[in-house]
Amino acid sequence: MRKIIMDVDTGTDDAIAIMCALQTEELEVLGICTVNGNRGITYTTENTLRLLEYLGREEIPVYKGCALPMVSTLPKWRRPEIPYGGKEFKAQEVHGDWLDLPHSVNKKVEDMDAVSYYIKTLTETKEKITLVPVGPLTNLAIAMRAKPEIVENIEEIVIMGAAYAYGNITATAEFNWWCDPEAAKIVMDCGAKITIVPLDATHKALVSGKEADEILAGGTKACLAAGDFIKRRIRGYAVFQPVGEDMTPVHDALAVLYLIDKSVCEDVKPMYVDVDCGMGASDGMSIVDVDHRYEDKEPNCDFAFSANREKFVELLTKTLKAR
Ligand code: RIB
Ligand code: CA
Repeated sequence: MRKIIMDVDTGTDDAIAIMCALQTEELEVLGICTVNGNRGITYTTENTLRLLEYLGREEIPVYKGCALPMVSTLPKWRRPEIPYGGKEFKAQEVHGDWLDLPHSVNKKVEDMDAVSYYIKTLTETKEKITLVPVGPLTNLAIAMRAKPEIVENIEEIVIMGAAYAYGNITATAEFNWWCDPEAAKIVMDCGAKITIVPLDATHKALVSGKEADEILAGGTKACLAAGDFIKRRIRGYAVFQPVGEDMTPVHDALAVLYLIDKSVCEDVKPMYVDVDCGMGASDGMSIVDVDHRYEDKEPNCDFAFSANREKFVELLTKTLKAR
């Protein structure tokens, strides 16, 4: 069983990723950190708590993380939209502000914040831990700045973020890295083993409305919630970023399922990946050095350029049905 810490900006696809991690025997979820991203920290934290309470998994600790990116909101013109939430905007339907589940009553956030949790856990652990950040990388980057030695106890970081051929928030940038480009830069330069599951892969692993019906028919609490979230995403993507009729990506779930079966991702190559922090037109864009233009740079990650849609949907359905 691989021990993992998740870092989420819950969000419909984060919620499905969390459910996949909790449903499989292959992974032990030590803790879940929350971060500003899809919505402000109040939303992403409460959404995580209500999901765990709905699933009856209150024993999983939740650590509230950073309310804002490291520095990207400092010049007021750079990220005026952050933090998101409480107002209508183009991508509103993809997540909604609150997940469509009952408000949490019993499940509470831990006293410790997410950055302190990373530092304490990665300092004291006797065995290496895998990190699965599927939101902006703020918590992890600040922990690495505060105590760089924690990197020694990281088994691997499997990141949902970045893109080679796509942008989903600007024409050039992927959302998680765009939110906090400086944090992405710190994590990419940290020296740990990193695997990136970018938009290039998640947009190959689309799920259809018919497949959402099959997931709903699985009948478990996870199936019922995930099936509804996928249907919501299909409605949202039709407006926000059409990807094919009656289809949606479920980005964050692909990163978790990759830990269970690597073959859900394809065309995974060692790559040097950087991020534009220059505050210009391509601010937050991931720079993927496919032609080795940076002669002095060694690969700093494995980058998944594609995914196997059939395997992903099959494993997603099986995992959500498991209990
Ligand atoms: O770009 C996709 C990513 O942005 C996903 O992690 C989604 O949840 C949002 O955070
Ligand atoms: Ca996310």
